[in-house]
Amino acid sequence: MNGQQGKTAIVTGGARGIGRAIAMALARHGFSVAVVDLLREQLAATAGELRALGIEVLPIVADTADYQAARGHVAAIMERWRRIDVLVNNAAVLQPKRILEITEAEWDLGVAVNLKGYFNWCQAVAPHMLAAGAGRIINMSSVSAHTGPSAHAASRFAYSATKAGVLGLTRGLARELAPQVCVNAICPGPILTERTAESFATHLDRLPQIIPLGRVGTPEDIAVVAAFLATAEPMFMTGEVIDVDGGANIN
Ligand SMILES: NC(=O)c1ccc[n+]([C@@H]2O[C@H](COP(=O)([O-])OP(=O)(O)OC[C@H]3O[C@@H](n4cnc5c(N)ncnc54)[C@H](O)[C@@H]3O)[C@@H](O)[C@H]2O)c1
Repeated sequence: MNGQQGKTAIVTGGARGIGRAIAMALARHGFSVAVVDLLREQLAATAGELRALGIEVLPIVADTADYQAARGHVAAIMERWRRIDVLVNNAAVLQPKRILEITEAEWDLGVAVNLKGYFNWCQAVAPHMLAAGAGRIINMSSVSAHTGPSAHAASRFAYSATKAGVLGLTRGLARELAPQVCVNAICPGPILTERTAESFATHLDRLPQIIPLGRVGTPEDIAVVAAFLATAEPMFMTGEVIDVDGGANIN
């Protein structure tokens, strides 16, 4: 690996879970990595692990739903590193409530983080990628964008709605930002992380039986695909949606 020295990546929601695994994978490829998250302590711990891999790290405590903050942090990253090669939009919140229980505020928070947050960071990085003539944006969606929430899922319809929105954002931006910037989405299936451990707990015996590859996914299963989208050369994919679910939703 290590072929990407001198390049830089931003990973939102990178303090833990899938985002952390992606940041680690990009670091092993040689990227300098800016990690954005609300969780100050976990972010510091992850930044330490990333530095131990010998790369430059910028831990950024920020809310991705904050439009002005995204612009300010991207400006600061540009000032420091002079380039942004990869953006991974990954920060998202659960939406566990059903239609009869969810409040307006809860709906609005889901849209603000899971959809507008992705827009905020895409719009902030796009001018720099276009000016450089190259860039990769990777948006984390979910298989629940296609299927609606399955029984074992931690989130319900409102989450599926935002994740389907991410696919529209991805396809639209893939056209708008071509040919300089490639924009693709990953749809994870069931991946065991801090946030899904509880909801999967009662289904852990059954889940492998409905997944052709016979196991629940790990953050690293998603990270290898993100690293591929960030590093593959030549690159002839944009606006693509890649399901990484062990075959659970083959169609
Ligand atoms: N784990 C799964 O089974 C699964 C399945 C499908 C899709 N996904 C998607 O993968 C991504 C990562 O999921 P995960 O399981 O690692 O979740 P996670 O909750 O463990 O990690 C998400 C990270 O995002 C951060 N975050 C949340 N809101 C934020 C905000 N407003 N600003 C900045 N940071 C914020 C959290 O602090 C956390 O560190 C999400 O987009 C999720 O929707 C996960």
